[in-house]
Amino acid sequence: MTSSTTIEFRKLSKKDSRAGFSCGEPELDLFFQRYAKQNQYRHYLGVTYVGVQDGVILGFATVSPCNIEAEALSDEQRGKLPAYPLPMLRLARLGVSTHAQGKGIGKILLRGVFELALKMRDDMGCVGVVTDAKPNAVTFYKRYGFEAYGIPIEGRSVGPPPPLPMFLSIKTIAKAAGRT
Ligand SMILES: CC(C)(COP(=O)(O)OP(=O)(O)OC[C@H]1O[C@@H](n2cnc3c(N)ncnc32)[C@H](O)[C@@H]1OP(=O)(O)O)[C@@H](O)C(=O)NCCC(=O)NCCS
Repeated sequence: MTSSTTIEFRKLSKKDSRAGFSCGEPELDLFFQRYAKQNQYRHYLGVTYVGVQDGVILGFATVSPCNIEAEALSDEQRGKLPAYPLPMLRLARLGVSTHAQGKGIGKILLRGVFELALKMRDDMGCVGVVTDAKPNAVTFYKRYGFEAYGIPIEGRSVGPPPPLPMFLSIKTIAKAAGRT
């Protein structure tokens, strides 16, 4: 942790300054600085949550509800779930300031997202969290139990490696949080 003061997990507000934030991924920085607020307050496309310490934004996580075709999950992942689109929470974007990386902020943001998924489960239904993990973040997500899902994209050999679709069941989240 960066210091003894706690990290607040809350929604991005209209007043928050995002200028100068950088997590080292230009595409994520551009999204946070230019689009996060309008997507949340004007287009209602998703909601961005921020991790804040002493008034400074140290990281952000953007979420929106989604449906995933049951066939995209393996038999083990799907368990007894029916064969129609399954409600989930999508972790659309996650970024921690380069100054604050490696200090537990990503973990705090993920925990906040898991709480949102549990609330969605209780209020409207949610069977898991999905994300498209950048190659450098796959191991990070695996630590929390995320697994690859979906049909692998074949024959792509040029350009940067594509993100990996990953899934974590709400049952695993609930068990870890003692909320079964
Ligand atoms: C990936 C990212 C969100 C992790 O956030 P962070 O605040 O640095 O991570 P934390 O300090 O909370 O780490 C939590 C744990 O994961 C581990 N970890 C962190 N980044 C990791 C990585 N890239 N690969 C593997 N493990 C990682 C830490 O060692 C730590 O382990 P511990 O609990 O045993 O101490 C952050 O590095 C980041 O913003 N990277 C650039 C943008 C990005 O790739 N975002 C993901 C988009 S899909």
